[in-house]
Amino acid sequence: MSEHLTLDGMMRETRALADPTRLRIANLLARAQLNVTELCSIVGQSQPGVSRHLKILVEAGLVSRQREGNWALYHLPPQQLRRTLAGDLIARLDPADTQIALDLSRLSAVQRERAAQAQAYFRRAAGEWDSIRKLYIDETKVEAALQRQLPAGPLGEIVDIGTGTGRILALLSGRAERGIGIDTSREMLAVARANLERQGFRNAEVRHGDMTQLPLPSGSFDLATLHMVLHYAADPAKAIAEAARVLRPGGRLVIVDFAPHKEERLRAEHAHRWLGFAEDAVAEWLGEAGLEKTTSERLPADPLTVIVCLATKDGVALAQAS
Ligand SMILES: C[S@@+](CC[C@H](N)C(=O)[O-])C[C@H]1O[C@@H](n2cnc3c(N)ncnc32)[C@H](O)[C@@H]1O
Repeated sequence: MSEHLTLDGMMRETRALADPTRLRIANLLARAQLNVTELCSIVGQSQPGVSRHLKILVEAGLVSRQREGNWALYHLPPQQLRRTLAGDLIARLDPADTQIALDLSRLSAVQRERAAQAQAYFRRAAGEWDSIRKLYIDETKVEAALQRQLPAGPLGEIVDIGTGTGRILALLSGRAERGIGIDTSREMLAVARANLERQGFRNAEVRHGDMTQLPLPSGSFDLATLHMVLHYAADPAKAIAEAARVLRPGGRLVIVDFAPHKEERLRAEHAHRWLGFAEDAVAEWLGEAGLEKTTSERLPADPLTVIVCLATKDGVALAQAS
């Protein structure tokens, strides 16, 4: 149920939603963060038309707009859905309605296409990933900061989400009871398997899986890591919520990613979806997932600053951070 609204507020929201295209757009943005081009291809309308509808939805306070380099991404986040009439209306839309069903199937196609682009990039990059990584971060500094944020001593059971070539698993498995790496790229997984075997990590394995639907039971890990992965996520909040799901109470999540930047080339050349993350946006996603941000460290560099952020799942912390 939406919050109470003033008469003016209610008129603003009802006028904004009293149009079939805008209601369809709101329904799509409640499910995914999309740019104008993606929305045009789903609703089958011109860019000026869709931009006009978006402007009305943003001005009514229903949809949020976030600048991402040369793109703007639009979204109707859960807290806005709960607060506004859009939430009530979207909940009542019949998913079997022909138009709505077509929108949702086109949305799935757009999401598949996006994932396929990143997959194709990692298929090509798998063999050289360990050298590519060094091109844009100083991995020794990042890994030292990661170790500083973690508790000293045994780490228990760990899951490295978006494990790539298994670098973080290899770094932490010596202190772990068991380590699992998850990745969507079979090519990356093949390199990770070979690396872990070569280094003799018998307690570490890798599996195919998506960060938003981990093939793992709830409450089964003491530590989850998302190391340079979140900027590929279609829905970073969902990836964080999924990491939180597999943690035990008191378990920890470490996110290592870029601070907001303007390196548009990373999108074109390295398939990044997000040009970094603001710390308060990450803290909000962590809170929604039942995690509390405990510490964070910025590693400033030009042009890419890396942030190492540690969060704990509600419950008693398993050990003191060093
Ligand atoms: C930049 S690499 C980082 C790999 C590793 N964490 C590291 O720091 O070396 C990002 C990895 O995330 C994986 N990835 C991208 N989207 C994913 C998804 N939806 N679910 C799981 N893994 C994903 C890619 O296949 C790739 O291996």
